[in-house]
Amino acid sequence: MACSKEIVQTTSFDDENPQVELQDAKVLVACFSFTGNTKTVASSLANLSGGTLYMIDPETPYGNENSTYYDENTRAYKEQYGPASTRPSIKKSLENAGDYNIVLLGFPIWYGKAPRVVFSFLDAYSFKGKTIIPFITSGSTGISSAASELKSTYPEITWKTGDRLNGKTTDQLKSWLEAGGLKSEIR
Ligand SMILES: Cc1cc2nc3c(=O)[nH]c(=O)nc-3n(C[C@H](O)[C@H](O)[C@H](O)COP(=O)(O)O)c2cc1C
Repeated sequence: MACSKEIVQTTSFDDENPQVELQDAKVLVACFSFTGNTKTVASSLANLSGGTLYMIDPETPYGNENSTYYDENTRAYKEQYGPASTRPSIKKSLENAGDYNIVLLGFPIWYGKAPRVVFSFLDAYSFKGKTIIPFITSGSTGISSAASELKSTYPEITWKTGDRLNGKTTDQLKSWLEAGGLKSEIR
């Protein structure tokens, strides 16, 4: 695993004593959302953590037809079931990506996994040695399969476990951030 020791030391955190190393964390809340559920959670997390909300925007938006599950003719289906290297184009408007040391990365589950635009985002910016905490919304699927794929695709990133955050109250989101080591960031 090719992590820079210096960066890892200042950005990763010890699960048993999380807040110590994160006191000066600069938080990015990056999110892809198709129908708005994940964006709602991401906005709350950005407010709570004092982080910057950045929406991952595909160059070509996904049309409403993609809401029809398991339709082999939809773009979402083709991308998710196509080659793992599929990377739909995204708008690249995130400034100073290197300044952030903690990224909360939100997305909806699409066919069990992270949408391919999330991989486009991770390819577009270097988060090597940074800490990413993924979060999802979904109909019912949990985060584990999506998280494993992200972790194995980007082993140079320090991945925290992450969670499914559908329907959480502000207090629950606050507790989630605290458990993830962002106690000192919470407003
Ligand atoms: C193309 C597509 C595939 C989906 N696949 C799953 C799935 O495998 N499991 C699941 O629980 N929900 C699935 N969903 C439901 C979404 O994950 C869920 O509605 C999510 O909250 C949408 O988030 P968003 O509003 O931020 O786009 C899928 C939705 C779409 C549009």
